[in-house]
Amino acid sequence: MNVLGIETSCDETAVAVVADGRRILSSVVSSQVELHAEYGGVVPELASRQHVQALIPVLDEALARAGCRLEEIGAVAVTYGPGLAGALLVGVNFAKALAYARSLPLLAVNHLEGHIYAAWLEREPEPRFPVLALIVSGGHSDVVLMGGHGRYRRLGETVDDAAGEAFDKVARLLGLGFPGGPAIDRLAATAAAGGTRLPRARLQRPYDFSFSGLKTKVQRIVRGEEGEAPEAAALAAAFQESVVDSLVTKALQAAADHGASEIILSGGVAANTLLRATLAERSPLPVVIPPPTLCTDNGAMIAAAGWRLLQAGETAGLDRDVEPGLRIG
Ligand code: KG4
Ligand code: ZN
Repeated sequence: MNVLGIETSCDETAVAVVADGRRILSSVVSSQVELHAEYGGVVPELASRQHVQALIPVLDEALARAGCRLEEIGAVAVTYGPGLAGALLVGVNFAKALAYARSLPLLAVNHLEGHIYAAWLEREPEPRFPVLALIVSGGHSDVVLMGGHGRYRRLGETVDDAAGEAFDKVARLLGLGFPGGPAIDRLAATAAAGGTRLPRARLQRPYDFSFSGLKTKVQRIVRGEEGEAPEAAALAAAFQESVVDSLVTKALQAAADHGASEIILSGGVAANTLLRATLAERSPLPVVIPPPTLCTDNGAMIAAAGWRLLQAGETAGLDRDVEPGLRIG
């Protein structure tokens, strides 16, 4: 069965066609990065308006690339939270209209579940439960134990900034523009090894993260409050190393403490080169890391998670509302 996946929670308008929750027939992502770049971050009103303009062309392209007509779609999956309220509303209302017009089941997907289900796309064999999922994105840093399909227990989270948010803020401090994650990733790769070292946060709860102290430290260094500042590349590398070390150490500890069989890494920050390499290197367990294009926001992961909801009979009514503050576990 072909599921249409629609994602508009933030600054990507994305539509995909996925067969049986696994096989990607098409995945089209229209990024708004350039629109928001001049403001240094996502402007919610602009994002909503751009989703309205982009959705129909993106849908048309997704169907064309899949070689699939609307008549061959069996269900419509859409992100209903978490995210920007106005942006979510555009996607959800669009999905409802499609589902109603074609009498199709509507599947309301939690964006964070979508990030996890990216690990089921185009991959054999399937991840084995229990799975420890580390979801690191612009809005979230969650350590989640997944006991089975649709069963989640949140073990840890960030107490302040999300990992991606920290990357974006530090990139701004270093004058690297928006979005900051890919810019820091690239700049850090040019730094000499063994340079500056930055601290790791210590927290009471073992699997929680904190990145705002690290950001403040970088800010003090950049302002020259801690002596002569190292080069931007060295600072970017030290920051990245500190974030990656915290993420990997806590995810591995949580996996060991809870008897996980595998680890899934996903969310926009999972596109980070050092994070991908470090987790794969340090993990004693099999690690599933989707390709970078499936880690950042896309419609295929929403279709994959939606297909599981359909299997479980969890369809949504046309009265389903958006939930901007939705959590997982
Ligand atoms: O999952 P995502 O596409 O959107 C949200 O759900 O938030 O994540 C976006 C975040 C941004 O903060 C961006 O800077 C970060 O992912 N990101 C990266 C990289 N690529 C994207 N962070 C570090 N390294 C990267 N290569
Ligand atoms: Zn995301």
